[in-house]
Amino acid sequence: MSKVLVAYSTHEGQTAKIADFIASVLRTHGLDVDTRDVKESADPALIDYDGVIVGGSVHMGKHDKHVVDYVRGNRHGLTGLPSAFFSVSMSAIHDAEDAEKYVQEFEEQTGWLPGKIALFGGGLPYTHLNFIMRRIIRKIAEDKPGNLGTDTSRDYVYTEWDGVRRFAEDFAAELEAAPQ
Ligand SMILES: Cc1cc2nc3c(=O)[nH]c(=O)nc-3n(C[C@H](O)[C@H](O)[C@H](O)COP(=O)(O)O)c2cc1C
Repeated sequence: MSKVLVAYSTHEGQTAKIADFIASVLRTHGLDVDTRDVKESADPALIDYDGVIVGGSVHMGKHDKHVVDYVRGNRHGLTGLPSAFFSVSMSAIHDAEDAEKYVQEFEEQTGWLPGKIALFGGGLPYTHLNFIMRRIIRKIAEDKPGNLGTDTSRDYVYTEWDGVRRFAEDFAAELEAAPQ
């Protein structure tokens, strides 16, 4: 049975939910899957895996430092395996150009060119933020295209789960086709 690692970093929890969802889809395809928050666990040895998916979210224009450090530290292992990266951001909802720019910067920072890339809309976790951050995020949401939610008394989730499912299914199919 092929073994897959889904390694991610999250601030408010949406990337973790997406990582768990991807893992559940991969398991329905008969894969043995581990999920790891790279902020919390020691570096899992990639040598144990047949494929790896890495996920990270964008805050203040950048991918999370923990996921950048993880990829930098494991670049050689990642390059030798079937791999994919998913980026979670507000921009991915209706501003693909911005969302792609974040990923381009991530590739430049880490030197890793994942085999496959996906951009997933994240959430607006207003109720998890302090007063100042709530105002900042609401202003960014107002300025982005797509009529994003601005009621700071509630959270919004924009992840399109069908797209996440397709990404996981494509990865499972590629892994199945890859020479072992
Ligand atoms: C403080 C803060 C800053 C953010 N900055 C950006 C940003 O610069 N660009 C963007 O596209 N999304 C931004 N977002 C949206 C996040 O990427 C989105 O909330 C995502 O779902 C967070 O994922 P996580 O919960 O796994 O950390 C920001 C969100 C927060 C809370």
